[in-house]
Amino acid sequence: MSTPTTTHTPPARSAAHESGIAGDPTAHRVLSGDRPTGALHLGHYLGTLANRVRLQDAGLPVVLVIADYQVITDRDSTDSRGTGETLRDRVRSLVADYLACGIDPARTVIFPHSAVPALNQLMLPFLSLVTDAELRRNPTVKAELQESKRPLSGLLLTYPVHQAADILFCDADLVPVGKDQLPHLEVSRLIARRFNDRYGPTFTEPEALLSPAPLVLGTDGRKMSKSAGNTIPLGASEDATAQAFRGARTDAERVISYEPERRPEIASLLTIAALCRGERPEDLAEAIGDGGAVMLKRLVTEAVNDLLRPIRARRRELMRDTGFLDAVLLDGTASATAMAADMLSRVRAAMGMDYSRGDGQGVSGAAGGHR
Ligand code: TRP
Repeated sequence: MSTPTTTHTPPARSAAHESGIAGDPTAHRVLSGDRPTGALHLGHYLGTLANRVRLQDAGLPVVLVIADYQVITDRDSTDSRGTGETLRDRVRSLVADYLACGIDPARTVIFPHSAVPALNQLMLPFLSLVTDAELRRNPTVKAELQESKRPLSGLLLTYPVHQAADILFCDADLVPVGKDQLPHLEVSRLIARRFNDRYGPTFTEPEALLSPAPLVLGTDGRKMSKSAGNTIPLGASEDATAQAFRGARTDAERVISYEPERRPEIASLLTIAALCRGERPEDLAEAIGDGGAVMLKRLVTEAVNDLLRPIRARRRELMRDTGFLDAVLLDGTASATAMAADMLSRVRAAMGMDYSRGDGQGVSGAAGGHR
C-alpha cells in the first residue's frame, strides 16, 4: 500500500543530531510511543508524528511502542470514558493514525508492549537501579498523579522505569518526544548508565529528540490534550474541525498580530496555520491584518483541513480493514519479541544469570521463561 505524502510536513528537528543522522541513518535506532487512550490529534501530528515519519523516511530504523500497560496508571484498561471504545479499538485506531500519517509498517515496527514478555522482564533489574526518592521527585509523575485524583499506585510511581524498558529493550539511541517526557528520559539514561557501571557495557544512553515545532494550544487556549477535550482529532470531519475552530478562544483586539507572550491564543492559531502551510506565522498575521479573528479562523480551518484531507481519507480506508491493522501489530510484535529476547539474554549474561544448557534451549532461552 502506498503511503500519503504531505507537502507541508512541518520542520521538526533538534540540531544536535542533524549531522549524525545525515551521515549514516542506520547507525541509529529511533524509539517512540503513545498510550492508547484515544484518537491522536493535531498537536501530536505537529509535535511528534510528522517528526517520526521524517526520521523513518530519512532511512532510520524506527520502533513505535503502543504503551497499553501505561494506560492503567490512571484508569482501568476497560475504562472507555463514555466513548464505548474498548482498549482493543483504541489500539487499532492508533495504528490507523500512524499509518495514515505516513508510518510504513514495512519499515517501522509497531507493537503493544504488553505482548512482549521479555521487554517487561527488564523492569526487574531496572527497579534495582533507582531509589524511591528519585522516583518520587519526577515532575511528570507528580503531574499525572494530581490529574488522576487517585492515590499513587506502584505502577505510576515506577512508570519511568517501565518506560526505560520500552526504550532500552531495542537499543534505541534517539527518542522523539514532547517536553513533558524529558524527566522520564532522564530516568532511562540513569538506568542505562548505572547498569553499564555495575554489570559492564550493555545499553546505549538514549537521547531525546525534541521537535522544534512550538507547542500548539487547544481551542480553549490551554495545552492541547485528549483529557481537556480541546483537540482537533486527526480523524475529525472537516465540519467538526470548522466548528472547533469557530468556537476557539481569541481576544478582543481586531487587528491580528503574532505576539506569543501577549496574545497566546491568537499566536497559537497562527502557529497551527503556519505549520500546516509551511509558512511563517508573522507573515500570515500580516496578511490577515484587520480581517480579524473571523478571517484567522477561516484560514486556520482551511489550512488544517487541507493538510489532513489525504490523511483522513487514508485513515477511513484503514479503519475498514481491521484485519490488516491486526496483522501489522502481529508482525511488529514478532520483530519486537526478537529484539527483546536478544537484549534480555545480554542482560542476563551481564548479570551472571545465563543458565542456558549451551544448546540455545536452556531456561534463559527466548521462549524458555518459567514463571
Ligand atoms: N509516556 C508516553 C506518553 O505518555 C508514552 C510512551 C510509553 C513513550 N513508552 C514510551 C514515549 C517510550 C517514548 C518512549 O506519551
